[in-house]
Amino acid sequence: MQSTLPLHRLATRPIIQLRRLAFPFPSRHLSSSSRRLTPAEQPKIAAYESIGVSLKPGEEVWWCRCGRSQEQPFCDGSHEGTGLEPLQWLVPPPKNKPDDTTTPRTIRFCQCKHTKTPPICDGSHKQLKK
Ligand code: FES
Repeated sequence: MQSTLPLHRLATRPIIQLRRLAFPFPSRHLSSSSRRLTPAEQPKIAAYESIGVSLKPGEEVWWCRCGRSQEQPFCDGSHEGTGLEPLQWLVPPPKNKPDDTTTPRTIRFCQCKHTKTPPICDGSHKQLKK
């Protein structure tokens, strides 16, 4: 099935719509690797603070793990060739309302790429040298 939108219209869709589409990169970019990362493959620090994004429970996002995306905190494909891959993540429902799938909640995403609870900020950016 072909899209009825002309190409220039597709390119101007807001990013909030684009990130909800199926992940646009070939599956070979999603395979995991257990080898140690070289210094050149280490994630870049996109920012020394978290970023809040309002999302509904059940929404799927692809969190940028490499720090090179221009659409932080989400992947834009800039990880190509780094050996790093994005993290697929589904927004969970609030703990006090596990059946609520309609109310948006603000998620604090890590941008320093050093969180130990990806993709959620755990405050690790406070320990990093600027
Ligand atoms: S752009 Fe950073 S993981 Fe894809």
